[in-house]
Amino acid sequence: MKCLMVFCRLVCSAVSLPLYLLEAVGLYAMYKRLFPLLAYNITFSYNDKMHRVKRELFRNVASFAGSDGTLRLLEIGCGSGANFSFYPDGCTVVCTDPNRHFDAYLRRSMDANKHLTYDTFIEASGEDLRSVEDESVDVVVCTLVLCSVSSVPRVLHEARRVLRAGGAFYFLEHVVSDPSSWTYFFQYVFEPLWYYLGDGCTVTRATWRDLEAAGFSELHLRHIEAPGVTLMIRPHITGYSIK
Ligand SMILES: C[S@@+](CC[C@H](N)C(=O)[O-])C[C@H]1O[C@@H](n2cnc3c(N)ncnc32)[C@H](O)[C@@H]1O
Repeated sequence: MKCLMVFCRLVCSAVSLPLYLLEAVGLYAMYKRLFPLLAYNITFSYNDKMHRVKRELFRNVASFAGSDGTLRLLEIGCGSGANFSFYPDGCTVVCTDPNRHFDAYLRRSMDANKHLTYDTFIEASGEDLRSVEDESVDVVVCTLVLCSVSSVPRVLHEARRVLRAGGAFYFLEHVVSDPSSWTYFFQYVFEPLWYYLGDGCTVTRATWRDLEAAGFSELHLRHIEAPGVTLMIRPHITGYSIK
């Protein structure tokens, strides 16, 4: 079975070769303009399927408000703002993302969620949030982002740095499946192609291990099967860590 899996992945890598070459000569960067449109449209069906999960995840966000009663929340890789409707009234959101082409879609979500206050957008990757001061936010949120970053530990380090003591890091991420499952077979085989279609998305990360090693004082983590979501990204982890 292992041999078949490795062979199928090689075939898939060969099929992906033109995309690899486009990336090597810098032309794949054009896809960064198209990806936000795809991601924005996919968000509607993902949010429909994950509505209950997201509601449950963000249920206690308001309890992390600072001593003055205000809640300052920073989102890493906010994309088109798919989580805004789940945030509590009056919360101030700091949006960050390395891809500025999400801008038009982000504005639509902002217009549709007037119960929030929006700080200036920061164009930055999660690995380097240098323009955000240490211990300056109450909550950091990261959903469907850690699959695409170049270093999960560095993103988690930045999240911890910008959080105040007692603040929370919320996550909802797809992860690798059990290696004995068919889901893992498909994740392993199709990952090379999925990587390009998903703008750098990898599907075989055991992200929970990075969360366990990130040095938070508490970790509340659940493994779930995302209802109705495509097999490749069905296994998810959801929860929050406290600094
Ligand atoms: C699949 S989208 C998810 C967007 C949004 N968080 C959501 O839940 O709908 C992945 C997002 O991660 C962003 N991203 C990719 N690499 C990143 C990095 N190194 N740091 C922060 N965000 C990154 C992308 O620009 C994109 O907005």
